[in-house]
Amino acid sequence: MTLNYEKEGKVAIFTLNRPEALNAIDPDLLGALSKAFCDFKKDDTLEVGIITGAGQRAFSIGADIKTMLPEMKRAQNNSYVQPPTIMRGLNLWKPLIAAINGAALGGGLELALACDIRIASEKAFMGLPEVNLGIIPGWGGTQRLMRLIPQAKAAEMLLTGKPIDAREAYRIGLINKVVEPDKLMSAALDMAELIMKPAPLAVRAAKQAMVQGLNLSLESGLRLEKSLFEMLATSGDFDEGCRAMLEKRKPEFKCR
Ligand code: CAA
Repeated sequence: MTLNYEKEGKVAIFTLNRPEALNAIDPDLLGALSKAFCDFKKDDTLEVGIITGAGQRAFSIGADIKTMLPEMKRAQNNSYVQPPTIMRGLNLWKPLIAAINGAALGGGLELALACDIRIASEKAFMGLPEVNLGIIPGWGGTQRLMRLIPQAKAAEMLLTGKPIDAREAYRIGLINKVVEPDKLMSAALDMAELIMKPAPLAVRAAKQAMVQGLNLSLESGLRLEKSLFEMLATSGDFDEGCRAMLEKRKPEFKCR
């Protein structure tokens, strides 16, 4: 199987599983990712997702040059339609963490950029080398990188195609944390635990407001925030959160 999709309690773990090809994303793997993301979206028992790569060397080196890029070329005449993923076409408000265990290049980094939190092993490096192939990123890299890090740094990465190491990625705000390679999954799970403590509906609304708000004027963004706030204000979890705070106890959120 090109993707291992596992459920551990409330956490979904997506492991890209083509280590012999440095987890390059081929059409099979892209389809499997799409299906797994759709399942994660509708499975009410799941709250947070962690995406990582099998093996020691790569998170993912991007679209498979031998099989994926020819399909993407065919998309020009509509003979290939890409399945919806978090990079493009699928809105997913449950939080996602990328646990970057090695090289994250091209579409691999774009997959990580579509997550909310990125934690990297000290051995990881990342870049958008598409210009070396005569193309540009096709899964959101030009758009998400410019919105995430200082524009001068994004321009340098996008125009030169040169990768940067995990320390530099941390310094410029591309990743949240750098850890020793054998602590990567535990750091990602710790982060998932932290995200699962607050009220899940509020966490999802916070993500929706953050992500959708990026593309809105301040005025429209404030309207979006207000409508999400009003939706949460009628939830039982809001009552429970306030009661628990006043009663100095842990809240028991029911996701409604
Ligand atoms: N797809 C398929 N195969 C790839 C590949 C890719 N994206 N990148 C590398 N390979 C293959 C190489 O052809 C080579 O195959 P063989 O063993 O059969 O010769 C093998 O992987 C190992 O590559 P190297 O010999 O280059 O090994 P290395 O350790 O020196 O370097 C690397 C590894 C840093 C990943 C280097 O291969 C590299 O920089 N690759 C380019 C990655 C790239 O360009 N990714 C972007 C893809 S396009 C994209 O993702 C578009 C998009 O936006 C969706």
